[in-house]
Amino acid sequence: MSVSAGNQGETALPRLYTDLAAWWPVLSNPDDYAEEAEFYRKCLREASRIPIRSVLELGSGGGNNASFLKADFEMTLVDIAPAMLRVSRNLNPECEHIHGDMRDVRLGRIFDAVFIHDAIIYMTAAGDLRRAIETAWVHLRPGGAALFCPDFVKETFQPRTIHGGHDRMLRSLRYLEWTWDPDPNDATVVTDFAYLLRDKDGVRVEYDRHVTGLFERGVWLRLLEEQGFKTETRSFETTTPDRVACEVFLASKPAD
Ligand SMILES: C[S@@+](CC[C@H](N)C(=O)[O-])C[C@H]1O[C@@H](n2cnc3c(N)ncnc32)[C@H](O)[C@@H]1O
Repeated sequence: MSVSAGNQGETALPRLYTDLAAWWPVLSNPDDYAEEAEFYRKCLREASRIPIRSVLELGSGGGNNASFLKADFEMTLVDIAPAMLRVSRNLNPECEHIHGDMRDVRLGRIFDAVFIHDAIIYMTAAGDLRRAIETAWVHLRPGGAALFCPDFVKETFQPRTIHGGHDRMLRSLRYLEWTWDPDPNDATVVTDFAYLLRDKDGVRVEYDRHVTGLFERGVWLRLLEEQGFKTETRSFETTTPDRVACEVFLASKPAD
């Protein structure tokens, strides 16, 4: 058994997306995303004034949502972590994958819709959130819709502890996920993970810290409006084990 420290720096990527990325599908089973992917698909279709064929996902991670959305949309998947792009390519070999940072990536083309799922929580300052919103805007066709899905807004944040995990092929993982707010006066919270990893070599435990952004609903709505979006909020509720409810921001880009 070994215990190692996670990344402490706010700019460093969590271990789940770097040295432990190969364990992502054992932590987060793609099959568990069917219900929410259907909700996101419906939101985008309802908010869009144009038919949706091409979708850009920023911070696509292991590609779990994309594995469902690709049935209806042509998905282009962007992530900052090369190891997560590798995981997603395995699951979604037919999708285009691009290495990039949602704060500044510029692909030089536009899409019918833009989707940023829980990866948006890695925007830990309002300036970064603004840049991610701008990236969504510049890649979105007029009349199209963008969907942003933070785990929490400040008004509804509650410290929480979740556990879960899966058995896949010859590997098993169980995790404890503990989200708490060391300083309620700033715009970040912390999620500490303990992972138990079992494979042919035995069981080991690893520690990982994720520092994530927490913004008031009003901050979200102001940044989206300043960018030019017309925005409404929607609530996603779920009964799927390992998945959690969230309030999402559904933003439309006016048609030219
Ligand atoms: C929880 S995973 C996303 C999982 C995804 N929602 C799915 O359906 O599989 C979060 C991802 O955000 C990515 N990420 C964090 N900061 C980013 C940034 N600035 N630009 C692009 N991706 C980023 C991480 O590399 C990680 O792969």
